[in-house]
Amino acid sequence: MPPLVLVLNGPNLNLLGTREPATYGHETLADIAALCGRSAEKLGLKIEFRQTNHEGELLDWIHGARARCAGIVINPAAWTHTSVAIRDALVASEVPVIEVHLSNVHAREAFRHHSFVSPIAKAVLAGFGSHGYHLALEHFSHTLKG
Ligand code: DQA
Repeated sequence: MPPLVLVLNGPNLNLLGTREPATYGHETLADIAALCGRSAEKLGLKIEFRQTNHEGELLDWIHGARARCAGIVINPAAWTHTSVAIRDALVASEVPVIEVHLSNVHAREAFRHHSFVSPIAKAVLAGFGSHGYHLALEHFSHTLKG
């Protein structure tokens, strides 16, 4: 069985493609899901790709990852900068986490420079656009499959 990696996306990422294209590009979330699907197949991983605008739903998905998933790739979007609950859920899951941002959050407004997730993540990728998701999956393929 290939290792299962959860790819989770937070609020407003369903609007990609039309949302601030100068910052986030023209790719839609469906494009990124397809890219992740192709990467996973090539890398020998199984993925579940999800997005929500409801924090409780994201928490439930993270809780469900415990003992079921080998890795979590997460773009927590705005909750990166606000949510202790998401950080605590990720810690409780005991699943290795890679945090991904499409944009380079450190080159943007000061309120985006702090992340509640980064200190508990295995790695952080910011500014690679959708390629960041591929890089995160590549890393999990490398580490999970030895
Ligand atoms: C984002 C960066 C966040 O600051 C922002 O709130 C997002 C998207 C990114 O992928 O660059 O919604 O996570």
